[in-house]
Amino acid sequence: MKIAFAKPTLPKGGAIAVPVLEGRKLGPTATALDRRTKGALTRALEASRFEGKVEETLSVLAPRGLSCSRVVLVGFGKADALDALAAQRIGGALAAQLAPSGETTAALAVDGFAKAGAPAAVLAANIALGASLRGYRFDRYRTTEKSDERPSLKSLTLLVGAPADARKAFAPLASTAQSVSTARDLVSEPANVITPQAFAAEAKTLSKLGVKVEVLGVKKLKDLGLNLMLGVGQGSAHEPQLVVLRWNGGGKASAPVAFVGKGLTFDSGGISIKPAAGMEEMKTDMAGAATVLGVLRALAARKARVNAVGVCALAENMPSGTAQRPGDVVKSMSGQTVEVIDTDAEGRLVLSDALWYTQDRFKPRAMIDLATLTGSIMVALGFEYAGLFANDDELAEQLAAAGVATGERLWRMPLNESYDERIKSEIADMKNDGGRWGDSINAAVMLKRFVGKTPWAHLDIAGVAWATEDWPIAPKGATGFGVRLLDRFVAET
Ligand code: BES
Ligand code: MN
Ligand code: ZN
Repeated sequence: MKIAFAKPTLPKGGAIAVPVLEGRKLGPTATALDRRTKGALTRALEASRFEGKVEETLSVLAPRGLSCSRVVLVGFGKADALDALAAQRIGGALAAQLAPSGETTAALAVDGFAKAGAPAAVLAANIALGASLRGYRFDRYRTTEKSDERPSLKSLTLLVGAPADARKAFAPLASTAQSVSTARDLVSEPANVITPQAFAAEAKTLSKLGVKVEVLGVKKLKDLGLNLMLGVGQGSAHEPQLVVLRWNGGGKASAPVAFVGKGLTFDSGGISIKPAAGMEEMKTDMAGAATVLGVLRALAARKARVNAVGVCALAENMPSGTAQRPGDVVKSMSGQTVEVIDTDAEGRLVLSDALWYTQDRFKPRAMIDLATLTGSIMVALGFEYAGLFANDDELAEQLAAAGVATGERLWRMPLNESYDERIKSEIADMKNDGGRWGDSINAAVMLKRFVGKTPWAHLDIAGVAWATEDWPIAPKGATGFGVRLLDRFVAET
C-alpha cells in the first residue's frame, strides 16, 4: 500500500475517511460532509452502533452530493487520549476495513483536535504506520488467487495541514515498518525454504546497509565448542549456523548492546517428537532470530549511533539416526555439562551456547535474548505480553518502558535461586527439563547460568510471535514482535 501526505482537499473519487470522536462527535471534516450530503452521515450513525471508539469504523456508501464512492467514519476515541499508539490502532483499523472493500484509493482527513495529545502531523505519521503494518500480507505462494480475492486498496493519503512535517515524521517509522516486514517474512516462510543456510544468506543481504555479517558453520562451531547447539542440529540434513551481525554506529571504545535470537528453523521436537496436530506452527520457532535480524536492519537503516551485535543461533531440530537422544550428556562452550532429558527443550540448549559465546566474545554492556522458548509462557500470559526475565532491574525497567511506548508489552517473571533445584541433574551440572510446573522459569534459570556477570534479559515470545487472530496493527500470522520494542529501547538508552 502506497502512503502519501497532502493538504486537505476533498478527493474526486475513492473513499474519504473522516474522524469521529467517542460519543459520536463528528470532527470538522465529518460535519462538513454531513452538511453536503444532507445529513447522510448522521442518519447512518443513528442506524448503527458506531460510537466513535478507537478501532471502530462505519462505511456510508455512495452518499448523494459527493463524488467519492464512500465515506468512512473512523473512531478516534477520546481527544485527550489520542496518542501515538491510539493513532497506530486507528490506522490499522482503517486499513483492515478498506483492504477488501473494493476501493483502490482512500484519503483520511486528519482533523486537528485542539485537546489532542499529539500534533496532527505526528498523529498522521502514526496512523500511516499502523495502516502499513496492518496492511502486511505474505502472498508469495498464492499463484492462482484471482484479483478480486486480493486486497483492493493500493494507496492511502493522509490529509493534514502540514504534510511536509507528517512526511518527515513518517520516514523513520516507515523504515522501521520495513524491518518489521522483513522479520515477518522470515517467520512466515516455511521450513523447507528457510533452512539455517537460507536464513544466513538472507542475513548477508544486510551488508548493503553497512552491517558486518559473519556466518559460523559446523567446523567453526566445533572448534569453539558450541556442542549444545551442535547437538540440537545433529539430526537434521541442514547444518546449524551461527550468524553474527554487527552494526558499529557508536564510538570505537563503547561496549555494544547484544541481541541473541533463538533460530530453530523447524522444531519437530526431535526424538521427543511433538504431536502432529499444529506441528506446522513450529516453522515459526526462529522468530527470535528473525527479530534480531530485523532490529539490526532497523538500526543500520536509521544509522543509529550505537554499537550493536546480533547473534542468530540457527538449527533444525529433527528426529533421525543421527539425532541426539534423551539422556545424552553434552559439554557446553562454557564448560558446564547438560543432561538432555527432553530433546524438545532444545531452545534453551541452543541459546545457552549462543549467550555464552556472545558475552565471551563481545563483552556487551547489555545482552537481550528473544526466543519462542516455552509453551508455558503462553499458559501464563496468553498473547498479550511477552515474558521478561532479567538479572538486572534497570535493564528490565528500560525494556518494560520501551514495551509500554511501542505497545509490545512485557511482563516481568521471577528468576530467583529457589528455582535452581528444579534443573538439578543426577549425572551432569544441570538438565534441560525442570518438569511441567513453571517451565518458562526453569528455562530462564538455565539460561542465566550462561551469561556470566553481563546485565541480561530474556524475552520469551512464544505467545506473541504468531497471531492466531488479527491484531490491531498486525494481520494474523507473523507479528514481528520485538523489532519496534528493541529499536525504541536502543533509542532511549
Ligand atoms: N518451540 C517450543 C515452544 C513453543 C511452543 C513455541 C508453542 C511456540 C508455540 C519449545 O522448543 C518447546 O518445545 N518447549 C517445550 C519444553 C518442554 C519439552 C520442557 C514446551 O514448552 O512444551
Ligand atoms: Mn521444542
Ligand atoms: Zn523450540
